[in-house]
Amino acid sequence: MRQIRLTEVHPGMILARNLYSRKGHILLASGVRLTEVYLHKLRRLKVKTLFIHDERYEDIAIPEYLSVETQQRAFSILSSTMEKIHNKEAFAIDDISSIASDIVEELIIQPAISIQLTGIATHDDYTLDHSLNCAIYAALLAYSCSFSIPQIKEITCGALLHDVGKLNVDKKIINKPDRLTEKEFGIIKQHPQSGFNLLVKKRWELSSLVAHMAWQHHEKIDGTGYPRGLQGEEILNYARLLAITDVYEAITGCRPYRKAMNLEEAYDIIRSGLGTAFDEHFGKIFLSKMALYFPGMEVLLNTGEKAIVVSLLENTPRHPIIRLIAYPDGTAYSPPIEINLAENPHLSIVNTSYI
Ligand SMILES: [Fe+2]
Repeated sequence: MRQIRLTEVHPGMILARNLYSRKGHILLASGVRLTEVYLHKLRRLKVKTLFIHDERYEDIAIPEYLSVETQQRAFSILSSTMEKIHNKEAFAIDDISSIASDIVEELIIQPAISIQLTGIATHDDYTLDHSLNCAIYAALLAYSCSFSIPQIKEITCGALLHDVGKLNVDKKIINKPDRLTEKEFGIIKQHPQSGFNLLVKKRWELSSLVAHMAWQHHEKIDGTGYPRGLQGEEILNYARLLAITDVYEAITGCRPYRKAMNLEEAYDIIRSGLGTAFDEHFGKIFLSKMALYFPGMEVLLNTGEKAIVVSLLENTPRHPIIRLIAYPDGTAYSPPIEINLAENPHLSIVNTSYI
């Protein structure tokens, strides 16, 4: 099995895992041979990646981050809560806290924690997709930063709700494919304050830190963020952590106004913002855990050999275990050889067609 970007999928390839909509319906079943018609529909649904059968790599296990059941439950709880907020109806917060807790409990039992693209099927509601992906990344980062489990749950809950203020912004502005005017950007910039105003009313049911995450997630360490231009430790640590995963999710996901950025570009953006836009301590941990490769991905080495990523090791996501499959002249390795890149410093990945 291989996980590849939709742009790399060709008609004739066979789907290796069911593809679900966020509402839990099967869009395409495992075993289906993909056709141009299906691919066209998947592009319209903005699906990012697919799991494809490849008999050469049948033994490569691609871990499932979050069970389909939890994804569905998270999506439906988040979606109904957001709808109530949008319609200015009364809403309960217990369900959000409980799904945040379930997400954390599922993620932290994973054998190796690295921050990888979620591979979750997308939906046309960017705020929902963004909030759920962001919550997963924030939980993984908080775990890597050694926060306690109750704190990780609080952070995950805050990440799920951090953009609720956007529900007061006209969807035409949120989904606008062109550059925003100054006036429109001014409207967008109000969402942290309105999110805080909404959530602080729930302070009897929800930690006030969650409301502060919504208020502060666009602040920057050097004081150039909004809405208040807070600096350094004036910004809550939870919000400093969330700011990193918020930007990472935004740039690696598709948006109406641009394509997803590749993982190396995303890595460089976070690295170049350390100490200015982003908290240096959390940012360095994020970069050390951020996977640029994932199992099932084909890569090219500096020696000209081709390999496939077999698995990622904790703490060295840039040095995966790989399986050499072809010599520089294209001759196949027979049998293929598996090596740990961390133990072979003379070898490095120079290219991959899937990121
Ligand atoms: Fe935001």
